[in-house]
Amino acid sequence: VTRVLSGIQPTGNLHLGNLLGAILRWVRMQDEAPCTFFLADLHSLSDHIPAEARRTQVRAMAAALIASGIDPKRSTLFAQSDVPAHAELCWILNGTARMGWLSRMTQWKDKSGKNKEGASVALFDYPVLQAADILLYQPSHVPVGEDQKQHIELTRDIAIKFNQDTGTETFTVPEPFVGGGVAARVMSLRDGSNKMSKSDPSDMSRVNLGDSDDEIAAKIRKARTDPEPLPGDPELLKERPEARNLVGILAAVTGESETAILARFEGQGFGAFKPVLAEALVALISPIRARYQELERDTPALDRILDEGAEQAIALAAPTLLAAKRAVGLSRR
Ligand code: TYM
Repeated sequence: VTRVLSGIQPTGNLHLGNLLGAILRWVRMQDEAPCTFFLADLHSLSDHIPAEARRTQVRAMAAALIASGIDPKRSTLFAQSDVPAHAELCWILNGTARMGWLSRMTQWKDKSGKNKEGASVALFDYPVLQAADILLYQPSHVPVGEDQKQHIELTRDIAIKFNQDTGTETFTVPEPFVGGGVAARVMSLRDGSNKMSKSDPSDMSRVNLGDSDDEIAAKIRKARTDPEPLPGDPELLKERPEARNLVGILAAVTGESETAILARFEGQGFGAFKPVLAEALVALISPIRARYQELERDTPALDRILDEGAEQAIALAAPTLLAAKRAVGLSRR
């Protein structure tokens, strides 16, 4: 690992899927290599929200990341829109990316649905901006949840084609870095066939960073399960998506293996399992929530952190942006 980069959209609440699939892995990677993390506020333009809400959300997400353990003294933390190189490189890469590649992205297909004519161009071009985000920093690793894998693979295709078309080695071809187990794709608490997501209309489907201890316990108590007792072998959870999800979440939160957990619960029902899971989640989330509520109020401190992060990111991104401009003949120097 030589350089780590990842980002998150600053829309809505941070949830357990974001924490297990991405943020807590970012936190650990800070010990391994220089890290760059950003709030993808340009990406969030594909949803229309009022200006003041967007400003508030960027600060709130910065506070949530710091509360989770992202250390702005060690890592570069910034808002995407403060670093113009992202939008500039996106435009250059629009010359490389193909309509067919973007049309095949599952996120585009899901979010635009049947109304392709009415979808924003930003929603369609979203993966090209994501490629620019990544390629600017030449990262060796991009830690993400499984749902982002397709976008990182597209980034690889764009990098390879750009390097080939220009006969240069402008971009490092990045690797998606997806974790193992349930953490890579945490599922909804209401439906084991849907991923846990910010946009699910049911708040009972996810555990949010802002939930109180009682809310967390209630969400786990009401989480969908099946009537069978727990098996001793994780293989036997394959056809039981809700059970697999809950056992996998406990494993990810405590660091235990699923096998070790099932050895303790074999033959028991969810009445015994759920309180243990709820307690583990409260132990994980309540200290993060407390720090978050503290940090969130200090707007000047958050702005200072984001301003400094932007300055560092501008310097980090400059050489690659210049190299990309030279490779296509946009720089006279
Ligand atoms: P976003 O904001 O949807 O999610 C942030 C991170 O959380 C992961 N994640 C999950 N992991 C496991 N289980 C889940 N249920 C779950 N839900 C979300 C996501 O995989 C992601 O790692 N397009 C990106 C933001 C982005 C980005 C980038 C990421 C923009 N540019 C460059 C990496 C590199 C997004 O919308 O993530």
